[in-house]
Amino acid sequence: MAKEVEKQELTEVSEAQIAVHWKEEEYYQPSEKFKAQANMRDPRIFEQFTLDKFPDCFKAYADMLTWFEPYRTVLDTSDAPFWKWFAGGKINACYNCVDRHLAKYGNKAAFIFVAEPDKEPDVSITYQELYDRVNELAALLRGLGLKAGDRVTFHMPMVAELPITMLACARLGIIHSQVFGGFSGQACGSRIQDSGSRLLITMDSYWRNGTLVDHKANADIAVQTANELGQAVEKVLVWQRYPGKYSAKTPMVPGRDVFMNELLGQYKGQNVEPLALPSDGALFLMYSSGTTGKPKGAQHSIAGYLAYVTATSKWVLDIDPEDIYWCMADIGWITGHSYIVYGPLANAATSVMYEGVPTFPDAGRPWRIAERLGVNIFHTAPTAIRMLRKLGPQEPRKYKYRFKSMTTVGEPIEPEAWRWYYDEVGKREAVITDTWWMTETGGFLCTTMPAIHAMKPGSCGPAAPGIHPVIYDETGAEILKGSGKAGNICIRNPWPGIMQTIWGDRDRYVKTYFGKYNKNPKSKDWRDWPFMCGDGAVQAADGYYRILGRIDDVINVAGHRLGTKEIESACLTVPEIAEAAVVPVQDELKGRVPEVYVAIKPGVQPSQAIADRVIKAIEEVIGKIARPKRVYIVPDMPKTRSGKIMRRVLAAISNRRDVGDVTTLANPDVVEQIRIMVQGKDITTRREELPEDIAKFGQVE
Ligand code: WTA
Repeated sequence: MAKEVEKQELTEVSEAQIAVHWKEEEYYQPSEKFKAQANMRDPRIFEQFTLDKFPDCFKAYADMLTWFEPYRTVLDTSDAPFWKWFAGGKINACYNCVDRHLAKYGNKAAFIFVAEPDKEPDVSITYQELYDRVNELAALLRGLGLKAGDRVTFHMPMVAELPITMLACARLGIIHSQVFGGFSGQACGSRIQDSGSRLLITMDSYWRNGTLVDHKANADIAVQTANELGQAVEKVLVWQRYPGKYSAKTPMVPGRDVFMNELLGQYKGQNVEPLALPSDGALFLMYSSGTTGKPKGAQHSIAGYLAYVTATSKWVLDIDPEDIYWCMADIGWITGHSYIVYGPLANAATSVMYEGVPTFPDAGRPWRIAERLGVNIFHTAPTAIRMLRKLGPQEPRKYKYRFKSMTTVGEPIEPEAWRWYYDEVGKREAVITDTWWMTETGGFLCTTMPAIHAMKPGSCGPAAPGIHPVIYDETGAEILKGSGKAGNICIRNPWPGIMQTIWGDRDRYVKTYFGKYNKNPKSKDWRDWPFMCGDGAVQAADGYYRILGRIDDVINVAGHRLGTKEIESACLTVPEIAEAAVVPVQDELKGRVPEVYVAIKPGVQPSQAIADRVIKAIEEVIGKIARPKRVYIVPDMPKTRSGKIMRRVLAAISNRRDVGDVTTLANPDVVEQIRIMVQGKDITTRREELPEDIAKFGQVE
């Protein structure tokens, strides 16, 4: 029996390397006008970043920063694979993002905050004002007894107070951990516990789709959850969306909750010297989903991270201090940390921050904002592009903004959506960079260098300077470019933006990212430690990479990474549920959405009420972003003879595909029952091949 299971798994693995058929797309060239003004236009730059010049090539990135004390070693590998970049130096991220710009750009806007309600005036914050506000807040945090190395959790919406709070922490070496505002109180609470924060910083309310949401309510749940998990939160600092006025219904808890704006009064006009911190100090944690139910806190360093996002913002996003740059992401995700806050500010950019939903009150909103503020660099995700295209395909034509460059990030973009972005949004003038990377990598891995490479819709392009990808098959053999075969994309070498570790879990860091392809765990040579990114990819003959999606059990919903195991454990908090399986389903707008299969305990009658309770549980444990498209109550889960749930079979059913051969399962009959429940009696399966991430889904268990 064991042999049989083993054999079955082996065939699954080789099926995973199926050929990927894809029509080769045509190239688009950057305009001469763009090329003439670009920060990086010398193709020879890549010769300076070849592997034989590694790691010294990255000195150029460190040189873009201002150091309090120079570093001694470019890359210290003595504790491989826990890399130490620019070791021995002293630096401060806040100083690099704020103080050093004051002389030249003090009166220039660092941020322009655009509120969701159209009638609220924009709030422009100059570098001088940012400096003043960050200093007062740093004084306040210091006054509360916080010091370098302490962790503070934020659960904040997209408001200017968020980057201000981040920078105040960075000034003192306090490690910030911002939890995406759309996550539930419980999700925030478990992240508070994991990071060991004693302080939560939140905001009373924020606007979303025309409603002023009571966000303070989440703080109470978060504190309670953290408490139950054994982490006491001593203080909750509450920013007010409208200073001086409390805009939430949830009462403040005496002794614990304090209004930030009131407390700040005591620190008016105070200055705090930026601390000279070690290069390899931690700047922040960013929690992300992985294969297990427990989110992992990606820990990013001060110097390496900042150098990497500064250089890539300058060269890839092509940001100059004179540009008006708008990244329409949420700072609660890594994109916002790297490419709204740290990268752009280190380059003295003027960065637009928008509070709300892109299509509120209509699909012309982003283009009106761009026109009004003179935005010339625009950055967003495929989901937003698809949504704006569907609701207002002609809207961009009505507005007179002009973009020189545009970015897409977070999900694969289909060539059709890419072309709309190019033709309509970019008016055939703006270059597009399709930037592929992830929370763990700090900054871009693969992208075109916009003035150097041609664009190819649907492909992120070649690798960024100094990034040397390799695609391995399951056995560790290299898959060559142009072979048409997909595999696991890895990076051969470390780079400054790479995470330092998973907070509090060194073993998980080594196992997750290096376990599969490292052959010598004792090695101190970086060549032995290819970093496994977690995506499937294929490399075309021209060297361009096309990303096929996650190879682990992570679903990318509208560019938000959700762990299926986390959703499944949320389902199991409903007492009637015996087993749960979550699968990704193709969705026209969001890319992928989760569908849920649950089996209920014996003696319980299936009902809509149970399905509703499952949805409610998911919203409470994770947040509305994880809301499933459908919940199916099934008589039993399809299982292998060793008792594993075959999520792959459920994914095929949900995506209206043929389930393939299921005769080796322990209960093949149940597959047909479930198929009828989902697809109806007639066979209505679609012929076209499943996208690779779904085809492979559920194979890595
Ligand atoms: C996916 C977001 C295709 C990928 C920066 C990755 C992409 C996951 C792209 C990381 C892209 C990100 N093309 N897929 N340009 N960018 N992804 O951690 O599957 O939120 O593993 O970081 O998003 O998501 P994360």
